[in-house]
Amino acid sequence: MRSIAFHIQTRGTGKTSCAGNVAAGLARRGHKTALIDCDQQGNASSWFLTAPIDRELADILSGEAETAQTLVEAAPGLFLIPVAPLDGSLTAFAETQLIKKPRAFEFLAADLAGLGFEYAVFDCSPSFSQLERAVIGSADEVITPLTPEYFSMDGIEIFTKELARISRAMRRDIRHDKIVCTMINRSFSHHLAFYENLRKLDYRIFTVPQDTRIPKAQIFHQSLYDFDPKAKAVPSFEELIQAITEA
Ligand SMILES: Nc1ncnc2c1ncn2[C@@H]1O[C@H](COP(=O)(O)OP(=O)(O)OP(=O)(O)O)[C@@H](O)[C@H]1O
Ligand SMILES: [Mg+2]
Repeated sequence: MRSIAFHIQTRGTGKTSCAGNVAAGLARRGHKTALIDCDQQGNASSWFLTAPIDRELADILSGEAETAQTLVEAAPGLFLIPVAPLDGSLTAFAETQLIKKPRAFEFLAADLAGLGFEYAVFDCSPSFSQLERAVIGSADEVITPLTPEYFSMDGIEIFTKELARISRAMRRDIRHDKIVCTMINRSFSHHLAFYENLRKLDYRIFTVPQDTRIPKAQIFHQSLYDFDPKAKAVPSFEELIQAITEA
């Protein structure tokens, strides 16, 4: 099984939208995929859940629930491990128990592998607390979504340095060779200029266009694939998924 985290410490760059649609696309290709909502905001959970939940990620991490019983099937082959946005359990776990259970996410990944999952996709919150460090430290790969804005360049530099520290601390080589430039509008010259600058970096650069179908699909609790398979952004997610599966 491969664990992939979508992360950068910057808010609103399309992390959840990329994580959810990539997970959905992997599942559509026949890969059993888990989407793990690691953000107390619970955006991935609100997106894919259509019924109340009685177990959540924090229950697995603290050993109070089985992984198999916490998975919610969101679409054929796509399973969500949710967070209850309002109860603060994940934050409480991160602040009080994670220090005693630093390998909690590795154990979760091992559980998922044992359940036959091929991919675990982690949606992280826009910060760099112990929680995000633990998620990233357990991942095989981190993919960074960025918006085409001037300050994003600083964001990627900060992220890269933090990731190097985490890799050293965990003594693991965490792959980070893909950046997704999201919400790009090619009729804006400053977006194109940003994209050209990104291409000078030593990363594989993917793009996701501005597409109103992405937020609309979320309102209807669907991935973009289920909401509108002909949506403008679908080929972009397909390109990214192709690269993920080739690796
Ligand atoms: N390519 C896109 N085109 C248009 N809207 C998009 C696109 N990608 C994401 N959005 C919308 O932008 C908003 C922010 O996206 P998203 O929630 O995925 O970002 P995020 O990085 O997860 O945010 P946070 O840092 O708060 O977790 C959402 O309303 C989402 O629907
Ligand atoms: Mg998010």
